[in-house]
Amino acid sequence: MPEEYRSRRSCLAVPGSSQRFLDKARGLAADEVFLDLEDAVAPAAKEAARRNVIAALNADGWGGKLVAVRVNDAATRWAYRDVAEVVTAAGRGLDAIILPKVTGPGHVIWLDLMLGQIEQDTGGEAGRIGIEAQIEDARGLAQVDEIAAASPRLRALVFGPADFMASVGMRSLRVGAQPAGYVGSDAYHYPLLRILVAARAHGLAAIDGPYLAIGDLDGLAAAAASTAALGYDGKWVLHPGQIDVVNQAFSPGQDDYERAELILDAYRYHTTEHHRGAAMLGDEMIDEASRKLALVVAAKGRAAGLRRSQRFESAGEGSAEHAPRGEGLGQPAGQG
Ligand code: GLV
Ligand code: MG
Repeated sequence: MPEEYRSRRSCLAVPGSSQRFLDKARGLAADEVFLDLEDAVAPAAKEAARRNVIAALNADGWGGKLVAVRVNDAATRWAYRDVAEVVTAAGRGLDAIILPKVTGPGHVIWLDLMLGQIEQDTGGEAGRIGIEAQIEDARGLAQVDEIAAASPRLRALVFGPADFMASVGMRSLRVGAQPAGYVGSDAYHYPLLRILVAARAHGLAAIDGPYLAIGDLDGLAAAAASTAALGYDGKWVLHPGQIDVVNQAFSPGQDDYERAELILDAYRYHTTEHHRGAAMLGDEMIDEASRKLALVVAAKGRAAGLRRSQRFESAGEGSAEHAPRGEGLGQPAGQG
């Protein structure tokens, strides 16, 4: 987990060609909003979309959300001007550039260098603008480790199911849903886990892509719950109606969150006060590995705005070796 965990439970795609959607996006409850210059914008509308996106970034009202722009991919004729014009004119309002169709580390290195040039030219803080790299074809997946290591600006790897399905020849048009006829449990498991491991190996967030059937909230909830359980930090949403379902799927449950905070307190108490590496919390033994797991859940819960209602109270002496089951040292104390 990155030191300072930022919530990216829901990442809302907003076509840069639609002034109405750009205006509306500000008030929505997505953790991240990205203004799209790529596949949601027709070739003839790319230049106008750039101007809309610059104006939207320079206007206030994003209210603490992460704000990103998805530029066209590094192999297109639009990419260099997307980056140069948007970052020069509106870099201050930008947390990250989303780079689609990353097929190898060279794409990320190109963007990293361009951002560095613009920062020098405009007096922007060096290295502040992050990169989220979309892994959405067979080549990108085959090189995902090299991509994840390509720049200190990288913040996240993002799975792009639509392009990925096309790239590997998956016989389905239902993006984000399971392809009919597949007898395994999850046709996306391999790319999802491959991307997750590469992301974590380099301290990056891992984001799942979109679920295109906007009206199928049950299907969306099931897909989001599955990648959240796997360890993903969030998922793209294409419509305001998808935001709540996805935010909920990627927030830890209140009980898990409370438990995680108690584990952290109890572990801290026992390791510092009693120099014990393992101790009881209620009827469960906790140790360094429990602390690491608790850190993940607590960080996700805090970033999602969850609040504790229980405090840890030490309740006498004992340890994993000495305390009888159930007579743990730290018991949750309700605070009402
Ligand atoms: C997103 O860009 C996708 O291809 O699914
Ligand atoms: Mg795509």
